[in-house]
Amino acid sequence: MSRAASSLAFAPRPPASADVTLTRDDMKFIAALVYEQAGIVIREHKEAMTRGRLARRVKALGLASVAEYCAFLKTPQAAGELPELINALTTNHTAFFRERHHFDHLRKDVMPKLIQKRGRIRIWSAACSSGEEPYTIAASCRDATGPRGDLDLRILATDIDTDILARAEAGLYPAELFERLPADVRPLIKLEGAGGRGEVRIAEELRRMIAFKRLNLIETWPMKGPFDMIFCRNVFIYFDTQTKASILDRFVALLAPGGFLYLGHSESLPQPHPKLRLIGRTIYERTA
Ligand SMILES: C[S@@+](CC[C@H](N)C(=O)[O-])C[C@H]1O[C@@H](n2cnc3c(N)ncnc32)[C@H](O)[C@@H]1O
Repeated sequence: MSRAASSLAFAPRPPASADVTLTRDDMKFIAALVYEQAGIVIREHKEAMTRGRLARRVKALGLASVAEYCAFLKTPQAAGELPELINALTTNHTAFFRERHHFDHLRKDVMPKLIQKRGRIRIWSAACSSGEEPYTIAASCRDATGPRGDLDLRILATDIDTDILARAEAGLYPAELFERLPADVRPLIKLEGAGGRGEVRIAEELRRMIAFKRLNLIETWPMKGPFDMIFCRNVFIYFDTQTKASILDRFVALLAPGGFLYLGHSESLPQPHPKLRLIGRTIYERTA
């Protein structure tokens, strides 16, 4: 067992002043590990960001250096640390009504048709981060449906990052986030009693529409579909073409014909897909 692993097994040292030097070889090792585990490509120019995020794990584990952390990751005892490494290296930036044209499309174009059909409605937020995206979806759906209880509507919200998922599920946010929303959509996000420290909680009527689950997009998925809408926004930017193409094929297989795929503002299909047609800003419809 390496010194790092044995120190973890017994007594973590106080994180006085850890050495956060990240060597070229360790950077390559971390990048390869994160690509293998999550499909995320860490490029060389992200070295400073990677070092900062690894330093947090070094500190949490009471290790002396990033080098020691990398050595630990090479031992069999590190299996339980891998999810923490991934949690540390994911980028979780998100917002309520981010790229709001997607939610206007959902509210005004898609939902009225689905409501008329009166069937089951299924929506997947495939990299939901801290929950702003699925709660915005729930609020937009609720606006379109009103409080009717005869609709079978469920939202699945998944992410690889277990820490961020726990935050998403709690549904607690700084009140000021909502004050900054455009006045016409602000009332759609229903809130309930203060959570303390300037926080508010998403109302139960929206929270109960969503199931939060951990799911790694590069592993197998348990869901059978079909989904009427899949939101996969601002995560393809971290993947290479091969990973994107394979995930995209699986999204198409899970989308109902006539269903919609929403990508992030700077994302596009890795290549044209025979069953997808672009119908709006980063909105694709499954045609057949
Ligand atoms: C920048 S956030 C995007 C959040 C939201 N979709 C939005 O557009 O505002 C990217 C999210 O993708 C998640 N992610 C990264 N790799 C993933 C993977 N292999 N499987 C599932 N989620 C992943 C990260 O944990 C992070 O929460």
